[in-house]
Amino acid sequence: MKVLNKIFDNNKKWAEKIKKTDPEFFSKLSKQQNPEYLWIGCSDSRVPASEIVGMMPGEIFVHRNIANVVVHTDLNCLSVIQYAVDVLKVKHIIICGHYGCGGIKASLDNQEHGLIDNWLRNIKDIYRYHQGKIDALEDENEKVNLLCELNVIEQAANICHTTIVQSAWKSGQELAVHGWIYSIEDGILKDLNVRVTNKDDISQTHRIK
Ligand code: CO
Repeated sequence: MKVLNKIFDNNKKWAEKIKKTDPEFFSKLSKQQNPEYLWIGCSDSRVPASEIVGMMPGEIFVHRNIANVVVHTDLNCLSVIQYAVDVLKVKHIIICGHYGCGGIKASLDNQEHGLIDNWLRNIKDIYRYHQGKIDALEDENEKVNLLCELNVIEQAANICHTTIVQSAWKSGQELAVHGWIYSIEDGILKDLNVRVTNKDDISQTHRIK
């Protein structure tokens, strides 16, 4: 109980601090949200989306899951993307991984982790596609970090392949998909130079006419 009380106290202090700078902040925000960005990131407690990009409530729409995976049968993630794109009309979807990701690490070992192994199976597939490149590295951390980057690139492609994103592009909606990675060691974001803004940039196989 002591710990939970601390959380409520922190919350009060936080709300008061914001109201001091802008007394209307919460009443304005309660009427609508108008974020320009959708962030899809890892659930890891060390990667809090809005904090690491210095954004306030209302500025970024967020979906997080273990190892920032976008699966075509995941109604939760797809619903977030659909709402963000169709209703909120976000201009940017950022898929952000992080180095040293526990989910990525777990997908590289051959241990049993329980139910989550079914989720991590998606990452094992990415490892399989790039096995030669990853196995060529000797250092275990480097292997994990390369797979962290490759996972971002793959998930960015998965976002672009959704009917949601392709329909938005078809209707002329301005929408860019970006792939970034965050370092928990120094707090710095790195752009993996993945930036897709139209269907011509995605694979022919997944392109919807
Ligand atoms: Co992670």
